[in-house]
Amino acid sequence: MTKIILTGDRPTGKLHLGHYVGSLKNRIALQNEDDTEVFIMIADQQALTDNADNPGKVIENITEVALDYLAVGIDPKKTTIFIQSQIPQLAELYMYYMNLVSVSRLHRNPTVKQEINDKKFGESIPAGFFTYPVSQAADITAFKATHVPVGEDQKPMLEQTREIVRDFNRTYNKEVLVLPEIVLPPKNHARLVGIDGQGKMSKSLNNGIYLGDSEENIKAKIMKMYTDPNHIKIEDPGQVEGNVVFKYLDIFDTRVDEVAELKEHYSRGGLGDMKLKRRLNDVMQDYLRPIRERREEFAKDKAEVYRMLKAGSEKAEKVASATLDEVKDAMGINYFKK
Ligand code: TRP
Repeated sequence: MTKIILTGDRPTGKLHLGHYVGSLKNRIALQNEDDTEVFIMIADQQALTDNADNPGKVIENITEVALDYLAVGIDPKKTTIFIQSQIPQLAELYMYYMNLVSVSRLHRNPTVKQEINDKKFGESIPAGFFTYPVSQAADITAFKATHVPVGEDQKPMLEQTREIVRDFNRTYNKEVLVLPEIVLPPKNHARLVGIDGQGKMSKSLNNGIYLGDSEENIKAKIMKMYTDPNHIKIEDPGQVEGNVVFKYLDIFDTRVDEVAELKEHYSRGGLGDMKLKRRLNDVMQDYLRPIRERREEFAKDKAEVYRMLKAGSEKAEKVASATLDEVKDAMGINYFKK
């Protein structure tokens, strides 16, 4: 196996179109590559680091996220999908790695710093939240991942993981852990803008189109999309730049020449927002319908989804267990091993 991929999502909500173009599509491509093994982890423990008082939300979203995976075509026959909390070896690795990381190093992690600010923890930052980058290093190294496809915001986690890998191998004088590389999404797809045009699509901004959204819901969201606030009369010239409808047409409408013509017409004046939005609605409905239908199909048998997750978790545990054994060997703490 030349490439081992490990990536994951916190189960704190359903997945949206931004997840799809930014990461899920890429995972589907990866699972079909030769010599590539793909692990996808539902990071329920990481989600609990700031949801300790609301485990129900995390538990519920494990199946929602799994359904989103299946709906877009992540195939459990090719990809190992598993639940973080079901792999106790990850917690054990996390514990040993904690001794290789200083508190001041954790303080310098910019993503965690930002999150601490956003989440308004004040003086009560959960210790588990503060140290989750170390837990993430355990996730990645347990599978000897060579490549970790994630968003830009995860760069600090990968840097920290690489430091831990180097430290571990140096300290225990053995090349046990594998140095992982980050794989960022293609630039034009990295940050799908939300329907409000204010920032990237995100649950917290409430500007998303979800993979499971109904036809009416999708339509309502497209009709609300941010266009050009100064394009009041149809005859007025309109702005293409910053216009969310055009951003989406650029990504999802395969009739590139027609889209170029529409842009010209819009800039010149004489093309109304409604007409554009109706076109985008047709495009997006065609794009999302098969995903939604597959999702509904899988959702009919949640027990089957759980069986899939259990099988994936059993497989993941074997891999993590072998790594943990090597780690303990290197540290010299496999006391009872013959
Ligand atoms: N921190 C990641 C996120 O918020 C989720 C995650 C947990 C992850 N463990 C991981 C991603 C390991 C990649 C590898 O999206």
